[in-house]
Amino acid sequence: MDDADAAGAQALKAQGRALIQECAFVAGRRVAAADDARVEVDDPAEETVLGVVPDLPAEEVESAIRSAAEAFPAWSRTPQAQRAACLRRWAALVDDNEAGLAALLSLENGKPFEEARGEIRYANGFIKWFAGVAEELRGEVAESPLPGHTILTLREAVGPVAVITPWNFPAAMITRKLAAAFAAGCTAVVKPASQTPFTAIALCELALEAGVPEGAFSVVTGESGRIGRLLTASPLIRKLSFTGSTPVGRRLMEQCAPTLKRLSMELGGAAPLVVFEDADLDVAVAETLKGKFRNAGQTCVCPNRVYVHRELFAAFVEQLADAVANLAVGSPFEPGVKVGPLIDMKGVAKVEDHVRLARASGAEAVVGGDRHARGGRFFQPTVLAGGDDELFRREETFGPVVPVFPFDDEAEALARANHSDFGLAAFVFTRDLDRAFRFARGLEDGIVGVNAGLISNPVVPFGGVKQSGFGREGSIYGIDEYLSVKSVTLALR
Ligand code: SIN
Repeated sequence: MDDADAAGAQALKAQGRALIQECAFVAGRRVAAADDARVEVDDPAEETVLGVVPDLPAEEVESAIRSAAEAFPAWSRTPQAQRAACLRRWAALVDDNEAGLAALLSLENGKPFEEARGEIRYANGFIKWFAGVAEELRGEVAESPLPGHTILTLREAVGPVAVITPWNFPAAMITRKLAAAFAAGCTAVVKPASQTPFTAIALCELALEAGVPEGAFSVVTGESGRIGRLLTASPLIRKLSFTGSTPVGRRLMEQCAPTLKRLSMELGGAAPLVVFEDADLDVAVAETLKGKFRNAGQTCVCPNRVYVHRELFAAFVEQLADAVANLAVGSPFEPGVKVGPLIDMKGVAKVEDHVRLARASGAEAVVGGDRHARGGRFFQPTVLAGGDDELFRREETFGPVVPVFPFDDEAEALARANHSDFGLAAFVFTRDLDRAFRFARGLEDGIVGVNAGLISNPVVPFGGVKQSGFGREGSIYGIDEYLSVKSVTLALR
């Protein structure tokens, strides 16, 4: 970095650091960390401590839950136009603070600054989208088969919800849930990932400033398992929306069973990406690159295994390897960096293990394949060719590694794509419209991209099938997760 770039990076870091608040929010009240009950948050690029948040005691979590329950009647009856206006004010504040929030997100998550800015826009897209949805929210009227009877269908807020979010999208996973919840009239208790709480806290402070009532939501921080148990055990919480791994999702479901909570589960994936012999090679490579290296491959919907028709296999691997070799790896604030560090050393070890096992099964590392020379949590962007796909059907790598496998015909490609317990996202590249439709219909996944490697935006129904969970976020369906249907039959006498 030259002097000007270094000064720019320092200025951005300072902007991000200025937004760090070492507290939780319990119904608008800031709760600081006690000396003996705190969680350190670190910077994955520098491996230094950014700050601490409280490991909240049970009384504070319970107080957050009670406040959400107490605030619910008023917030759910607030006219929907007012809730929408509140969301729009929140969105305007997020727009005003975009650069600072992006810098904060880069600091605690490690994704390159421009990508983090993209995430803040993506996150704010949900707030804007659900403001519109709140304005449009309505029920239905139906004629009853009984003479003189009319059926009103009301859509009512579910109640106070618990929102548990991951570290890989510290802003977007919060707003995708919270904006829908607020639009519906729900109140919420948010538990952000322990690795990335500061972005959540900063976003939620802006929600307060925008006029979301203080009691209507809290951000609780601390040890995830313990806080998850408190949230799931409470009968006051009527719904849980969770994004994270399948094993944790299962455990949370079990914990929610005694109180029969409504659930939305956005869980793991092992997305297949299939390239047919008639695909546009340039498009297929460019889109694979965009989808796979988002957040250094730490994305539930990014391709985990790529299948390329044997006719195109060598050309695809060569072109992809050239592009991957040119991806700049570095700290999020260095200009031109496309791949940042992984979140922690556990993540690095898993990626390393996947590469090792793939090689042992016969794969060749065409580019990359090792930890990056920068050390720490950096891993080389890697393309693997050949070998066995079993591991990649079973487990998401969550790192910058693209394993590519040849296939011979459409039936084989579909069988291999579907041969996984997961069913979140899938991608297919072909110029044959019939095949595109046929294949998309045959895929056992909740989200399909045809000739597109990036499929996430607020209008897309987002969610999986099989072990990838259930429920849909964003889109016109996302609000349904926070509404229950009540019928009122009016009899004219
Ligand atoms: C995720 O990885 O869980 C979310 C990715 C997205 O919203 O595109």
